[in-house]
Amino acid sequence: MEVKFFNKRGEEVKKKPLKLKWVDFDIKKEFEHFMIKEIYEQPLVSKILIDSLKTEQSDIVNKFLDEIEKANKIVFIAAGSSYHSSLMGSRLLRELGYEAYSVLASEYKDMKYDKNTLIIAVSQSGETMDVILALKDLKERAKKVLSVVNVPYSTIQRISDSSLEIKAGPEKCVAATKTYTNQVIAFLYLANRLGMKVNVEEIPDEINRTINMNEERVKEIARDLKEERDIFIIGRGINYYSSLEISLKLKEISYIHAEALAGGELKHGTLALIEKGTKVLALNPSWDIDIKTNIEEVASRGGVVYEIPKDFYAKESYPNFSLYSVIVGQLLTYYTAREKGLPIDYPRNLAKSVTVK
Ligand code: AGP
Repeated sequence: MEVKFFNKRGEEVKKKPLKLKWVDFDIKKEFEHFMIKEIYEQPLVSKILIDSLKTEQSDIVNKFLDEIEKANKIVFIAAGSSYHSSLMGSRLLRELGYEAYSVLASEYKDMKYDKNTLIIAVSQSGETMDVILALKDLKERAKKVLSVVNVPYSTIQRISDSSLEIKAGPEKCVAATKTYTNQVIAFLYLANRLGMKVNVEEIPDEINRTINMNEERVKEIARDLKEERDIFIIGRGINYYSSLEISLKLKEISYIHAEALAGGELKHGTLALIEKGTKVLALNPSWDIDIKTNIEEVASRGGVVYEIPKDFYAKESYPNFSLYSVIVGQLLTYYTAREKGLPIDYPRNLAKSVTVK
C-alpha cells in the first residue's frame, strides 16, 4: 500500500519513512493477559531504563537537571496514571527545595506560570490530547517544555525542547503498569542525581521480589475483594499518590469503586462511609507514624484493613516503598478482575491513548 502526503496547496510532499526502533520483550513465560505480562516485565524494563539513564540518555538527564536547577517554578502536566507518577516527581522535587507541582492537563488553564517556568509533560503514549493542547498553549510563554514519554517520536516528544524516554517497550493493556513504574523510576533517578538519598540500584530486584513474594497472598485477598462495590485506599505524604494510582487501577480494570484518600482526610467526612466489613487498603510503612491512627479509626468502626507491608511484602526503604506498594496494587487489581471474569486488557468505555479532548 502506498501513502502520499500533500500540503495545504495540494502539492505532494515527500516524507522519509522513519523505522521505529522499539523492542518488545520476550520474557520467558506464557501469560493469560497483557496486563500480567507487563507487570512481570517491570524488573526487566526498570533495569533497561536505569542503565539507559546512565548511558545513552545521560546527556538528556543532564539537560533535565540543568533546566530544573535554573527554573524558578516547575510544573508537571499529565493525565491519569501519568499524573499520579508526576505527583511523585513534583513531590520529590519539593522535598529537595524546588517549587514544583503537578497540574491535570485538562485543568491547566488556571495555573500560574511565567517565562521562567519549566513545564514537564508526562505521557506514556505521547499522544494524550489534553496534554498536547496544554503544551501547544504554554510552549510559547513558558521557559522550556520537557517531556517524559514511552513512545519514541510521539507528538508530545516532538513538540518538546527535550524528552526523556522511559524505555518500557510497547504497553498493550489499557491499564498503565510498567509505564507508570518506569515514569516513577525516572523521577527517583533525577531526585537522586539532585541530592536525594534514593537507592535506585535496588529497584529492579525489589520489584521482582515484590511480584514473586505477593502473588499467592494477593490471589487469596482477591477472592475477598471480588464481591466488593467500594474499597478505600489510604496513604499519607508520598504514599497518598500511590493510593491514587492503586485506586485508578481497581476502578478501570476491576470495576470496583475504589476511593483513594490522604489518611488525615478520613475524619473530615469519608469516615461516615466506614462500617462493619468495609474493605480498606492502608499503606503503612514503619516510618509513617500518623497513618496508624487512621488505621485505628477504620478498624474501630469494623472496617477490614489490609496493610502494606504487614499483609504483603514491600521493602520499606524511603521513597521506594511508595513504588513497591503500587506493584502490590497492580497485582491485586489483576487477580480481582480475573476472579470476576472481566476483560482486563481492554476494559469497557476506555482507550489506551485518549487522543480526543
Ligand atoms: C492508566 O491506567 C489509564 N490507562 C489512563 O489513566 C492513562 O494513564 C491516561 O490516559 C494518560 O495516558 P498517557 O500516559 O498516554 O498520557
